[in-house]
Amino acid sequence: MESIFNPIIIASDHAAFALKEIIRKMLITQGLQVEDGGPFNPDSVDYPSYGQKVARSVSSGIYPAGILMCGTGQGMSMVANKFKHVRAALCNDLFSAIMSRRHNDANILVMGGRIVGDVLAEEIVRTWLTTPFEGGRHQRRIDQFDAVQD
Ligand code: RB5
Repeated sequence: MESIFNPIIIASDHAAFALKEIIRKMLITQGLQVEDGGPFNPDSVDYPSYGQKVARSVSSGIYPAGILMCGTGQGMSMVANKFKHVRAALCNDLFSAIMSRRHNDANILVMGGRIVGDVLAEEIVRTWLTTPFEGGRHQRRIDQFDAVQD
């Protein structure tokens, strides 16, 4: 797999711990350098602290991209998108994965471990990591919202 991003940081909460383990192993098998932001066992945890860890690393440029997983993916997306320069895309299907890269230059992929099956999740990750951003008018639109301050 010719990944656009490498290295990559990943994290989950308890609801997607099993999926995180599957994705971590898959990425390593594909030859990517993976930072595991945790958790490291399936005990119940609060997703905001794990989401922040990944989002802060991407926002500051330490990692070019990340993958976050929780039960639905909703909470992790909300946390991650509070960070400047983070474009977290909730993709529980392949079309969203493709378009979030082509049009939105997403730099964090979010999935719901209670929604996607393991095989679909692996395909979403492969697709997301190998789909290039189209730039052009889409870059202009990203620049517009990147500059927004509330
Ligand atoms: C945990 O029960 C669940 O709320 C969490 O994994 C996530 O789905 C939140 O958005």
